[in-house]
Amino acid sequence: MRAYVARFIDGAARSGAVAVPDDPEALIDQLADAAVGLSQRELENAIAYATVDDLAIDESDVQQIFRQKRQAIRKSGLLEFVDTGGLSLDDVGGLARLKGWLHRRRHALGRAGAGFGLAVPKGVLLTGVPGCGKSWSARCVAAAWGLPLVRLDMGRIFDSLVGASEAHMRNAIAVSEAVSPCILWIDEIEKGLSRPGQQVGDSGVSLRVLGTFLTWLQEKTSPVFVVATANDILHLPPEIVRKGRFDAVFFVDLPDEDERRAILDIHLKRVDRADDPLDLDALVELSGSSDGLDRGGMTGAEIAAWVDDAMLYAFERSLDGEAPDLSHEDFVRALDEMPILAKIRDKDIAALRGWATAHAQPAS
Ligand SMILES: Nc1ncnc2c1ncn2[C@@H]1O[C@H](COP(=O)(O)OP(=O)(O)OP(=O)(O)O)[C@@H](O)[C@H]1O
Ligand SMILES: [Mg+2]
Repeated sequence: MRAYVARFIDGAARSGAVAVPDDPEALIDQLADAAVGLSQRELENAIAYATVDDLAIDESDVQQIFRQKRQAIRKSGLLEFVDTGGLSLDDVGGLARLKGWLHRRRHALGRAGAGFGLAVPKGVLLTGVPGCGKSWSARCVAAAWGLPLVRLDMGRIFDSLVGASEAHMRNAIAVSEAVSPCILWIDEIEKGLSRPGQQVGDSGVSLRVLGTFLTWLQEKTSPVFVVATANDILHLPPEIVRKGRFDAVFFVDLPDEDERRAILDIHLKRVDRADDPLDLDALVELSGSSDGLDRGGMTGAEIAAWVDDAMLYAFERSLDGEAPDLSHEDFVRALDEMPILAKIRDKDIAALRGWATAHAQPAS
């Protein structure tokens, strides 16, 4: 791949018709890494397309190569390519320990890390309170590392035909390795696994499928970084969290005050209202006012929805001729209609925390 890309860029530079960076070595690495898993013909097509659209070869063309990979992924029918354009780890509010852990591994799948002798990381399991950023972190880490995010839906793996489910799992693993380096995102890994004591599905099959996956994960040397999330942790089969499988298991709790502020900030920026004259301290306090506990306020998802709802009120006012700025009142009105998870399910959350002290490390 590298030789082909280098030759192509060299030829393009000499033709004089295509803009090429002065020192293309880093770009050649990036393009070649991105192309792993494509056939030579697919690479030729992808790089030719990427070049003719703007008569230049640069970093934006890495995305073109990913697009070509997307086709291969779609064909498998088991995996889905997720767009993460424009995100970064800065889009995750709070979760400092998780972000630090991920950031330290940002080069571990690449050439530089391998050259230095870094071990290829296996992956991370994110558990925690619903709506606090597990799935969101998976998206953001893929974007931050500049790797394609490939999503595996456990629901699609299970098949009623004898033996087919395990074959699907093996196939999904093979496709992810073919498009590596990549992030393999398994959202709600417990989905499709039957719970102990429950007669849903065939527990033999689901445990064998899980076993296929965990064995691969344990022995894996390919640059596929698995980000799995789990919601129903109290019923998680214990082998998932056993040492030697995932590199780490994190528990994502309700955000504390500083984290709520960071999340609010991110979502005000998202709707382009970071400069509106709002009293952030007062809003942060409102977002935690469901009780007096340190972590008893809104989830990240609730803060995101709160901002969107407040925007609706601001829009209504603007229709009446008022200034389009978001106001504190808009947030107060929006809050009135919001059921807050921490209030409704504080017992459930306490149970999750109990599990976490024994099985996971805090993400914050
Ligand atoms: N820490 C955070 N920083 C910024 N935004 C957040 C954060 N947590 C949640 N959000 C917002 O809330 C939305 C939902 O969060 P996400 O899907 O990650 O929750 P989850 O932990 O996966 O929940 P579930 O257990 O229900 O799957 C995100 O798309 C994002 O907009
Ligand atoms: Mg989720």
